[in-house]
Amino acid sequence: MSDSKALHKIAKSLVVPRKGILAADQSPGSMNKQLAALDIPETPEMRRKYRQLLFTTPGIEEYVTGVIMHDGTIRNYTDERVQFSDVLISKGIIPIIKVDTGTVPHNNFPGEVVTQGLDGLEGRLREYYDMGARAAKWRAVITISDDTPTLENLRTDSMSLARYAAMCQSVGIVPMVEPEVLYAGSHSLERAEAVTTETLKILFTALKEQRVDLSGLILKSSMVLAGSEYNEQSSPREVAEASLRTYKNSVPEEVPGIVFLSGGQTPERATENLNAIAMKEKEVGGYPWEFAFSYSRGLEQPVQQAWLGDDKNVKKAQEALLNRLRLNSMADSAEYTASME
Ligand code: 13P
Repeated sequence: MSDSKALHKIAKSLVVPRKGILAADQSPGSMNKQLAALDIPETPEMRRKYRQLLFTTPGIEEYVTGVIMHDGTIRNYTDERVQFSDVLISKGIIPIIKVDTGTVPHNNFPGEVVTQGLDGLEGRLREYYDMGARAAKWRAVITISDDTPTLENLRTDSMSLARYAAMCQSVGIVPMVEPEVLYAGSHSLERAEAVTTETLKILFTALKEQRVDLSGLILKSSMVLAGSEYNEQSSPREVAEASLRTYKNSVPEEVPGIVFLSGGQTPERATENLNAIAMKEKEVGGYPWEFAFSYSRGLEQPVQQAWLGDDKNVKKAQEALLNRLRLNSMADSAEYTASME
């Protein structure tokens, strides 16, 4: 099999019907904040125990194609000293590594950030490949306000995403390109649609310019919805219609899959909106792309609340994870209803 065929196969295997991706790639800082909110000690050992709980949940492979991890997590181990990536591989789950190193202010562009991490990336990708990673994620952050995003900010982030994607493919890793248009803000649904469409158009122009193989990548996108502070929250039907119109207008057909982040929506709302997207897809008879969930908070909030850092609650927490995964799996096929909660 040629290299590009192998990439296409991995990309497709990440977005099969009824399954999704578990985004467990919080940085140590973000993970600590989530632990602290529940009075769980913010220690490396608690972070390790939490990831162990997630990855060893019996049966997650029924719903999960891939798990996204931070550098510290992919190198970490279970109590029995089995590397987390090997735990996942033994279940047929693809280890995915987050490779950007976070954001910094975009100089001269108040209120905007750019994502870093290109320096030395190719070497790091080779190391992750040897640890079993077959996909990698890079997240750009786009903020909507009266003055943002600027064209320059979108171009800068898109160029980095395109360079990262090209490097990933050169070493046999599928890039998961994530331009996150933030839900936070007081923007309307129409504005979210206009910004997401522009963001994706600029991104795909950059990917093509850098000769990235579009059949060997996954798009990780925000759903298109009015901002968290807008006076009227978008209905599931509105989210589905705006999101699908956006992708039709900006995502090339060769891209095998579009996966969603939950972005601060409640777990229930993220599931309901995924279901509405699948319903709309059925109505129109399908789209060129396979859709799937790739949630972090949308899957993990109930797990953390059930666990509370106590070994006695591990089973209960694993059941909470399976429950959320099952509901999203149903939503992926438009079979979810709110009464299942
Ligand atoms: P959320 O689902 O919590 O938005 O996180 C997904 C993700 O990977 C953000 O980069």
